[in-house]
Amino acid sequence: MSEYLQKIDRAAAYIRERVSISPKLGLVLGSGWNMILEDIKDAVRIPYGEVPGMAKSTVPGHAGEWVFGNIGGHEVCVMSGRVHYYEGHSLKDVTLPMRIMKALGIEKLVLTNAAGAVNKDFKPGDMMLITDHINMTASNPLIGANEDALGTRFPDMTKAYDPEMREVAKSIAQAQGLTLREGVYMWLTGPSFETPAEIRMARILGADAVGMSTVPEVIVARHGGMRVLALSCMTNMAAGVLDQPLSHQEVLDTMRSVQVPYRAFIERLIELLS
Ligand code: HPA
Repeated sequence: MSEYLQKIDRAAAYIRERVSISPKLGLVLGSGWNMILEDIKDAVRIPYGEVPGMAKSTVPGHAGEWVFGNIGGHEVCVMSGRVHYYEGHSLKDVTLPMRIMKALGIEKLVLTNAAGAVNKDFKPGDMMLITDHINMTASNPLIGANEDALGTRFPDMTKAYDPEMREVAKSIAQAQGLTLREGVYMWLTGPSFETPAEIRMARILGADAVGMSTVPEVIVARHGGMRVLALSCMTNMAAGVLDQPLSHQEVLDTMRSVQVPYRAFIERLIELLS
């Protein structure tokens, strides 16, 4: 067995020893999406740093632990915080949690993040359903020898964002009177925010939002055959749209202002995807 497969096995075994449930639904909580943690019953928490082989997150607003439990009676595997490429981790390490979830039996994955709005029709606080992505990093977590046991060498990305799961999300938003935008997410490495020129480029290339995460996770999740839904909170208008500087504080402040509607949305999403 390759070193990588052993690493996945060791991490999954460590978690299996501590967790008695076997959820099929995984949830990755990005910057500010932690409101849903309060709903988790019978929670078993495992800090990333305890799991053999896992990298720790260093970003404020990212707790960095697994939380296993149930929400409204439905078993879930929640990642509270993620690690990012810009923290200096390899893309293999950034996406190891997707491999671990797959090994644990997760079939559907809901990824969340904070993003800058490139589309000028969007407003801070809007939720966006990611319909497709553009990888602007010139890197890919699947570079290197392919592990045939995990997935195919050339995975298809035409429907990376599961059409059926997207319909579920749209029906919830409609029922709850929540504005749900749809659009293309462009992944750049960060950690510097984009320049106004880069945002003009992103718009010309067809992006509606920009961010520093999620795409490598989607690539690996699809490689492994998991179904994916991804949601962005437009925490700010992207660089140059408004005549003001960007800050991580603005990202966190916007997230705080949408806690109530977002929480209701995610609760219902978990119910309908379970
Ligand atoms: N750019 C990149 N990532 C982000 C942004 C942004 O404007 N806002 C939140 N995450």
